[in-house]
Amino acid sequence: MDNITIRLETEKDYRKVEELTREAFWNVYVPGAAEHYFVHMMRSHPDFIPQLAFVLEKDGEIIGNIMYTKAWLEDENGERKEILSFGPLCVVPKYQRQKYGKILIEQSFEEARRMGYDVNINFGNPGNYVSRGFVSCKKKNVSFVVDGNFPTALLVAELVPGVLDGKKWMYIPSTAADCCDDTAAVEEFDKTFPEKEKKWMPSQEEFYIYRHSSVVR
Ligand SMILES: CC(C)(COP(=O)(O)OP(=O)(O)OC[C@H]1O[C@@H](n2cnc3c(N)ncnc32)[C@H](O)[C@@H]1OP(=O)(O)O)[C@@H](O)C(=O)NCCC(=O)NCCS
Repeated sequence: MDNITIRLETEKDYRKVEELTREAFWNVYVPGAAEHYFVHMMRSHPDFIPQLAFVLEKDGEIIGNIMYTKAWLEDENGERKEILSFGPLCVVPKYQRQKYGKILIEQSFEEARRMGYDVNINFGNPGNYVSRGFVSCKKKNVSFVVDGNFPTALLVAELVPGVLDGKKWMYIPSTAADCCDDTAAVEEFDKTFPEKEKKWMPSQEEFYIYRHSSVVR
């Protein structure tokens, strides 16, 4: 882990981070990717938290990043609690599975705790997160506001252990990612990058299964 620096993203890094995000997500969840457009748009969304937008440099080159938005949990009495949701989180393909993702999560969680946050919830492939202490939303009684289900991909990390115990919660995500529903805008933005082949990968089917399933008991 020599020559590693984690620091806040600055405006100078914006395009580099978008390029890296495109590389990391390309064809992983769908043919092509929309996450670089999400990164581009989220920085001006009111739920974006710039104090938690970190880049990881190795030998002076950015090879990974993590970004957060606000999200909310509502309890049975309708009381809302502000929480965090990270994403995108990515590491350039050449350096994946070498613990850089772990470092980005752990260091940003530390800063999040200092800022007073005690919960992070996000959608993701459980395989990437269970070893980091994330648990199924079902175990923490957190259902998804849209349908009241416990999505398989909805994963909870308590930054303060036990903070969600004893209540039922509803997860309310930020609207920041809604921009990606505009497929024409995603395509237009993607044209500003070098052409890249869209193709099928098995990870897309895995993602489909996670996205469309829930934990029921
Ligand atoms: C997901 C991602 C950020 C993880 O970062 P990383 O630096 O590659 O991952 P790490 O080395 O920190 O390992 C993360 C965990 O993934 C799992 N993992 C590691 N190698 C794996 C492999 N070959 N196959 C499947 N899972 C593996 C393990 O649970 C690992 O934790 P552990 O080794 O402590 O048990 C990175 O791979 C990435 O950018 N992927 C593409 C974009 C993406 O999917 N982002 C996340 C959106 S949900």
